[in-house]
Amino acid sequence: MAGCCTFRYGTVAALTRSLRVGEQCVRMFEGYRLPKYVCSIIRATPQRSISALGVLRDQEWPVPPFGTHASSPPLARRPSHPLGIIKTSIYEYLQKADPALKTFDDLYPVVTVKANFDDVLVPADHVSRNPNDTYYVSDATVLRCHTSAHQLELLKRGEPAFLITGDVYRRDSIDSTHYPVFHQMEGLRVLGPEDWGSMEPTQYAETQLKQTLEGLAQHLFGSVEMRWVDAYFPFTEPSFELEILFKGEWLEVLGCGVTQQSIVDDGGFAGRKAWAFGLGLERLAMVLFDIPDIRLFWTEDSRFLSQFKAGSMKTKFKPYSKYPPCFKDVAFWLSDSFTENNLCEVVRAVAGDLVEEVKLIDSFTHPKTGKTSHCYRIAYRSMQRSLTDEEINELQWTVRRDIENQLKVELR
Ligand code: DAH
Repeated sequence: MAGCCTFRYGTVAALTRSLRVGEQCVRMFEGYRLPKYVCSIIRATPQRSISALGVLRDQEWPVPPFGTHASSPPLARRPSHPLGIIKTSIYEYLQKADPALKTFDDLYPVVTVKANFDDVLVPADHVSRNPNDTYYVSDATVLRCHTSAHQLELLKRGEPAFLITGDVYRRDSIDSTHYPVFHQMEGLRVLGPEDWGSMEPTQYAETQLKQTLEGLAQHLFGSVEMRWVDAYFPFTEPSFELEILFKGEWLEVLGCGVTQQSIVDDGGFAGRKAWAFGLGLERLAMVLFDIPDIRLFWTEDSRFLSQFKAGSMKTKFKPYSKYPPCFKDVAFWLSDSFTENNLCEVVRAVAGDLVEEVKLIDSFTHPKTGKTSHCYRIAYRSMQRSLTDEEINELQWTVRRDIENQLKVELR
C-alpha cells in the first residue's frame, strides 16, 4: 500500500508525487460510472491545462480493463459496494456516539476555486492549485480535489456537526493504488463552552478528536496498534495523522486536526472551536477487504460486486482472472440417474481449475417422447493466461466423451 496517497497536504511524498507533470488520459473516464457532466468536464480539461501552461503534453493512459456503465448510482451510494459498506459502517459508528451528526453524500463535485482552496486557507502557491494536479473546469471552478471544499459552505448553512462523503478528483497516474477519482469522507464537529467546561478549548478539541477517531479506527480494524503523527494541513492547527500497524507496516488512515479559528469564525461560529478529519475510503476498503487494485472499485464485473454484502465488513476479496473466458456448450438427453453434481465432477476431472462455471442455459422436454434435454454452458478460464481455442476444443471433446460414458446420457 505504500505510495497510496490519500492526503495531499500532509506528506512530503505526496507533494513530490504531485509535482510530477500530470499526464492524463481522458478516454479512460468514458463509459465509467461517473456522472455524464463529470466525464465531459474531464474530457475538456487537458486542453485547458495545456493552454494554461503552454508546455504540457497529455499522454494517453491505457484504458483499464474494467468495463463499466455510466448510468449506475455513484459508488459510495450503493449499499453493497465496498465503498458504500464502509461509508455506512463509519456513519453508524460516529452517529451512535453523536446522533446530531448530519450526513451529506450528494454534494455537487464542481466547486469554486475559492471553496476548494481559499476558504480552507490553502496558500496561493500551494502545489495542489496547479492545473497539473487539479482539474480546472474554468478559471474560477474545479472538480473538488478534497471534501474539505465543503467545510465552510456547510458551516455557513449553520451546520455544526457533519460528515460529507464524495468523489474527489486529482490528476494522477493510474496504477494499482492511484486513480484520478477516489472517495473521501470529511467530518467536522463544532464545540462550545458547554463542551470544554473548565478545560482549555483547543486541548479539549484535540482530546475529543483523538478519542473519537481512535474509537473509529478500532471499530473498523479491531484492536490494532495505533499511533498519532504530527502533520501539516492548512486548515487545522494542530494537525495529526492517525496510523495503524497493519501487516507489520505503519499505515496512514486519516488526517485531522483542530480547525483554524478563522474558518470557524467565517462559518458563523465565532467563540466556538471545531475539529475536523478527512479519510480516503478506497484505501480503507483495500485494507479491510483485501482489494489489491484501486481500479477494481470501478468494475461492473459481478465476480467483484457479488463478493460484497451490505452491512458485512468481514468479506475478504478473492481475486479472479483478468483473462477472458472461453464458452463451450454441451447438450444431451438426460438419463434417470443424471445429477448436476455428477456432471460438474466429470467436467472438473477433465479440465481442473480451468473450469470457472457450468451453467444450465436451456431445458426442454420433448412432447412426444417425454425425454428431457439439458444444455449446459461451460466457462473455461485461466488465472494466468489467455486460453487458445484449440486447447479448449480438445478439452471439450474429452468432456463430451466422458459425459456420455460416465453419465449414460445421450449427446445431441
Ligand atoms: N483534505 C485533506 C486532504 O485531502 C484531508 C484532511 C486533513 C481533511 C485534515 C480534514 C483535516 O478535514 O482536518 O489531504
